[in-house]
Amino acid sequence: MIKVLKGFATILSVFFVCWAALALADTSGESEEAQFVFGTPDQPSEAWLLAAGGRIYDNWWDALDRKEPTDTHPAYPESGRKTGSATWRCKECHGWDYRGRDGRYGEGSHFTGIKGIDGAKGRDPAQIAKFLREKPHSYSAEMIKDDELARVAAFVSAGQDETARFVDPKTGAVKGDKKRGEAIFQTTCAACHGFKGRLLNWGTSEEPAYVGTEANAAPDEVLHKIRNAHPGAAMVNLRVLPIEDAAAVLAYIKTLPQK
Ligand code: HEC
Ligand code: HEC
Repeated sequence: MIKVLKGFATILSVFFVCWAALALADTSGESEEAQFVFGTPDQPSEAWLLAAGGRIYDNWWDALDRKEPTDTHPAYPESGRKTGSATWRCKECHGWDYRGRDGRYGEGSHFTGIKGIDGAKGRDPAQIAKFLREKPHSYSAEMIKDDELARVAAFVSAGQDETARFVDPKTGAVKGDKKRGEAIFQTTCAACHGFKGRLLNWGTSEEPAYVGTEANAAPDEVLHKIRNAHPGAAMVNLRVLPIEDAAAVLAYIKTLPQK
């Protein structure tokens, strides 16, 4: 009787090992993509580091696959118009052009009166990271781990673009070479967004949001995403190319369909 049970247990464990191996093999494709979106390369290049930091600046819980906060950031001003998780995004207080109250967020629904991060360019990343753990920021290690905080600190120190050179702070008008932008878009972005930029829609069918829609509504945001990619998505970024190329793409996609 015991022998039979033992035999049965052996067969069961063999089945289990096979099942586990199959399960692992099954998800390996998926985890390669997750590795690209959320993971770290073995030898991170400067370009990878800065773009990864830029995505944390955009939206750290989407960039890092973390729990979205539910409360309002304690340092978000009462006079501000946002509540909840939005107020935990670096960009919400400091702007897509990194200039806070002196840039595009100097008025309108995103106004907070908080200064930009452009004054921190060139500062020691270790010091920036330490500063982000303390008040008024209070980012805990549960929210953003040490190595991740080092990425966003590297972005603050060495990854900020001079967005105002390409996106007018007052009017949002874009300076860029449309012809070159068209060539880059057709050979790169179109693989996922389609030639007309309508293949991906993050809006609804009644109110679509395409690259063309977004580039017209928030050109400084789109420039940031072209340089750093969209957090949580398997998207490319143009961090290694000259900033003029990203501005060229932005100028071109403003001409794409918005509806
Ligand atoms: C709720 C609003 C808010 C959010 C969100 C926020 N900050 Fe700040 N940040 C502030 C305020 C307020 C100051 C000014 C602090 C002071 O002057 O003492 C500041 C200052 C800074 C500075 C110093 C700028 C200088 O010139 O000295 C840096 C760098 C910075 N923040 C980076 C970040 C990063 C990176 C994130 C996201 C991980 C972030 N902040 C998220 C409110 C915010
Ligand atoms: C490999 C596929 C891929 C490529 C190539 C790609 N993207 Fe994306 N992009 C995505 C995905 C996926 C999303 C997320 C869409 C969503 O949220 O539904 C996205 C999102 C975006 C968004 C913003 C979404 C938002 O919510 O604000 C913009 C803007 C954008 N892409 C522009 C570009 C531009 C410009 C290029 C070329 C430089 C490009 N993308 C190349 C896959 C790609």
